Amino acid sequence: MERRGFLRWFTLLFGALCGGSGLVSLLGRRPQDGGWQVVAKPEEFEGQPALRVRLAVRAGWETAERPIYLVRDGEGIKALDARCTHLGCTVRFKEGEFRCPCHRGVFDAAGQPVSGPVSVPLPTLETRVQDGAIEVRA
Ligand code: FES
Repeated sequence: MERRGFLRWFTLLFGALCGGSGLVSLLGRRPQDGGWQVVAKPEEFEGQPALRVRLAVRAGWETAERPIYLVRDGEGIKALDARCTHLGCTVRFKEGEFRCPCHRGVFDAAGQPVSGPVSVPLPTLETRVQDGAIEVRA
């Protein structure tokens, strides 16, 4: 094989290997969307009206954690996003209701707006109990 031909093939092969490994690396680092995450064991939630837990969510190419609350929903469990629907501050559960520290918005224990500048309920996240764990879909 001539030197020029060898260099051409070598360059093509090298480029394909670099491009392929870069693509695999990018795809491998990408967090999964819509997956179920274990957030607590049922016994951790026993006897409490609300339990604050963390949920990993995708933000662009990175994964960030954000607080959510598990609350009672009849015989079941419901997960509420802890971000206030007014301007996004994190609400806190106190004395049977969710209170927003930023503008004094108040939601009831089911996440419904009660007073203050809030008019939209706290978003509900899909929840299930599977294999002895409480799971929430991110
Ligand atoms: Fe919660 Fe304004 S951000 S009341």
